[in-house]
Amino acid sequence: MIIVLIGYMGSGKSSVGKILAKKLNYNLIDLDDYIEDRENASVKEIFKTKGEIYFRKKEAEYLKDLLQLKENTVLALGGGTPCFAGNMEAVLDTESAISVYLKGSLPFLSKKLFKKKAKRPLIAHIETQELMTEFIGKHLFERSQFYSKAQHHIITDDKEKIDIVEDIILELF
Ligand code: S3P
Repeated sequence: MIIVLIGYMGSGKSSVGKILAKKLNYNLIDLDDYIEDRENASVKEIFKTKGEIYFRKKEAEYLKDLLQLKENTVLALGGGTPCFAGNMEAVLDTESAISVYLKGSLPFLSKKLFKKKAKRPLIAHIETQELMTEFIGKHLFERSQFYSKAQHHIITDDKEKIDIVEDIILELF
């Protein structure tokens, strides 16, 4: 089985994925890390030197390869992955994949991301907390139509990572 973690930047996909994979004794693949390894460059560098369209093309290609995996795997996607190139449909069409949306509220995500924006090319330039909230509010509105197609939704606000993992396990098994 492939447990596919979906959600906006800062929703905890990578950190929750690590704990979940360890608990279930599954392999862990973080799609951003996988892209960085394959492309020999950080996501930030890829955006800067080759542009977002190139990044989205590679992201879709690698995702489709990874969805063929037969081993038990936790696969943490990037925040934008479900919203491009038919990626969400590809996840939903994969019989061995179960999709889980880690759902954070706007105030929670905005506060967290303002502190951690540097390595995220889409928000690194945003200068104030108010502008961050405005940007994320619009972006989440556009993206939630994709995220909400996930088979399971887990609320993440103010929960410890381990409790989010427990919620996922209770929901799936
Ligand atoms: C992106 C999210 C990032 C990364 C890239 C684009 C997005 O992943 O894939 O910077 O479009 O939301 P995280 O959600 O892991 O930060």
